[in-house]
Amino acid sequence: MPADAASPRLLGGAAAGSDALVLGIETSCDETAAACVRGGTDVLSSVVSSQVDLHAKYGGVVPEIASRAHNELIIPVVARAMVEAGVDGRRIDAVAATTGPGLIGALLVGVSAAKALALTWDVPFVSVNHLEAHLYAALLEDPHLELPMVVLLVSGGHTMLVLMEDHGRYRILGQTLDDAAGEAFDKVARFLGLGYPGGPAIDREAMDGDPEAVRFPRSMIDDGLDFSFSGLKTAVVNHVRANPDVSTPDVAASFQAAVVDVLVAKARRAAAETGARALAIGGGVAANSLLREQFLTACTDDGLHAFLPSRAMCTDNAAMIASAGWYRLRDDGPSPLSTGADPNLRLTSHR
Ligand code: KG4
Ligand code: ZN
Repeated sequence: MPADAASPRLLGGAAAGSDALVLGIETSCDETAAACVRGGTDVLSSVVSSQVDLHAKYGGVVPEIASRAHNELIIPVVARAMVEAGVDGRRIDAVAATTGPGLIGALLVGVSAAKALALTWDVPFVSVNHLEAHLYAALLEDPHLELPMVVLLVSGGHTMLVLMEDHGRYRILGQTLDDAAGEAFDKVARFLGLGYPGGPAIDREAMDGDPEAVRFPRSMIDDGLDFSFSGLKTAVVNHVRANPDVSTPDVAASFQAAVVDVLVAKARRAAAETGARALAIGGGVAANSLLREQFLTACTDDGLHAFLPSRAMCTDNAAMIASAGWYRLRDDGPSPLSTGADPNLRLTSHR
């Protein structure tokens, strides 16, 4: 059978039903993850194998090491997700995988595994945009959708405000002009000698610091919905060089407060300007303690429905891939097996 000549099962059909069981696979960066999710929101299992230890000594993700590790881990991780969900291949209705954005070698491992499993089980393959999946993570634990909804997506590679008008309909309201918020956390942590990954390290260090010790710049806080974090990173470096005895917890807390002030101010403005009644956050930086606290306070003050995923659903995982894949299958049907991995895939409307 030619790759794209689909059998009835491959076309969706019953598989696209409301209780379809989707196996999700995520390998875009340094987490090998697989999950089984029924009906888009019922998470039966979610397994994440982190490669943090492999990359820590290099101070960041090494693409070639990531691809090799995904290769070794993908089958055991998928097998564990299926065992934990109590299902075998005959029960899976579709296989969804992240096709981008991400590291090309890393993406290819997950995409190839997903296509092979879809062909073996004779079920649809579904291509998922990693950024769209981060939006869906916010809905996984609170499916009470209120659209239009503004999502603040803050990860290691992206910082953007997205208006989700409907499933599959997105408008990018603003994004970073230079560094992503997570990238700023990682670079500042590395400079302060706090290790990798930087976000959780700064979060911990800041617990013992004074957020008002240093008044770092809140770049572009009153200026539109775009972001800029590279000036803040430079301000931290300059301050520490000029004050070598400064307390590291104070610097960490003051840096974190500057990032969070900007993120929360812009998210509120985006909701006000668009008239959205709901605000969600997603992406690894949404695991940050101060951001979570200030996000909830802002939503309460502004009378907005807050979607705040658990920390495990903020950082990379495959439950969000399976969830986004379920909606994609329901609305657009299966993806052709000719769909390739795209390291620069953008978030665009597909409906
Ligand atoms: O979404 P994610 O897991 O992967 C990407 O798609 O990029 O995000 C990873 C980013 C890293 O930059 C990491 O330092 C940051 O999220 N991060 C945090 C926290 N946990 C992870 N940043 C601030 N505070 C945290 N607690
Ligand atoms: Zn991510």
